[in-house]
Amino acid sequence: MTNPSLRSVVLGVGSYLPARTLTNHDLAKIVDTSDEWIFQRTGIKERHIAAEGETTSMLGEKAARAALANAGLVPDDIDLIIVGTSTPDWTFPSTATQIQAALGITHGAAFDLQAVCSGFVFALATAEKFLRSGSHKRALVIGAETFSRIIDWEDRTTCVLFGDGAGAMVIEARPSSGAASERGILTTHLRSDGRHRDKLHVDGGPSATRTVGHLRMEGKEVFKFAVGKVTDVVADAFAATGVTPDELDWFVPHQANRRIIDMSAQKLGIAPKKVIATVHLHGNTSAASIPLALSAATADGRIKQGDLVMLEAVGGGFTWGSALIRW
Ligand code: ACO
Repeated sequence: MTNPSLRSVVLGVGSYLPARTLTNHDLAKIVDTSDEWIFQRTGIKERHIAAEGETTSMLGEKAARAALANAGLVPDDIDLIIVGTSTPDWTFPSTATQIQAALGITHGAAFDLQAVCSGFVFALATAEKFLRSGSHKRALVIGAETFSRIIDWEDRTTCVLFGDGAGAMVIEARPSSGAASERGILTTHLRSDGRHRDKLHVDGGPSATRTVGHLRMEGKEVFKFAVGKVTDVVADAFAATGVTPDELDWFVPHQANRRIIDMSAQKLGIAPKKVIATVHLHGNTSAASIPLALSAATADGRIKQGDLVMLEAVGGGFTWGSALIRW
């Protein structure tokens, strides 16, 4: 049973992008595309690509250390690690256990969660439920991906969209009166509909093909779904808390595509000045995108303690979800 007197409070965020950048101009040398085409349709300017041998857990560890430093904590303070990823280092063990070991943590639990681009919101919703139950005290919630490894670099319809990166958040269980004015995660809403595999999937896997496979996507269908349907979880968050779009300070959606971001905000009645968008800097980094955007917007002083922040994500499956946070 959930303990009504506990709430998960954000203590810090951090992120990491691999050193190598790949610009739209660089991509135009690999496939038949142009900076103009990519930027007009997606808002993306460049993405980062992990070095040979640089794995998802290595990116995740760096983001985790940055989030811990931001929170003023050390690895030993953490007793739960949940990693949202679709590009794990290995089929098993989990990327979360690799990060746990790299951080030198030998207590608590660590596991991966697979919800593709919704991975961070699903991991956050899961972690905050653990914390509110009283079973764990402080969680590292990480989104880490190396999508460059599952991209078909000859397919211009997908290779221009994605990049590698990682982001992390530290949350802590704290006593709460339940008021919306108090800091912490106010509500989370998760949805899935497994009928849509063909629209966005990887065509390989240990059980089906014994291979890793490549990402395949029906871009137009994904676009329609992302804008048309998934805003329902944000409406659910408003309904559950009585918060209105006007009261929001920031809207931090999954960073897939600038047009999806702007159209979603417009549909929800959220003013453009409240939208955090960093997709131009790193492309679609799947589960890493929201904590990457949060890190940027806290580092530059936009998101401040006490602000109301709405997260929203959609990903393969389809999966989609929201989280409303009093920062
Ligand atoms: N460069 C140049 N031309 C291209 C490229 C490219 N990289 N890719 C496709 N084209 C061509 C197509 O071949 C097509 O040519 P044709 O008219 O001669 O057949 C033309 O451009 C138009 O293609 P469309 O697919 O109709 O382009 P559209 O305007 O739909 O844009 C895009 C494609 C950007 C993929 C869009 O559909 C989209 O953003 N979809 C959402 C996908 C997404 O964000 N997925 C992320 C994963 S899911 C998630 O994170 C939620």
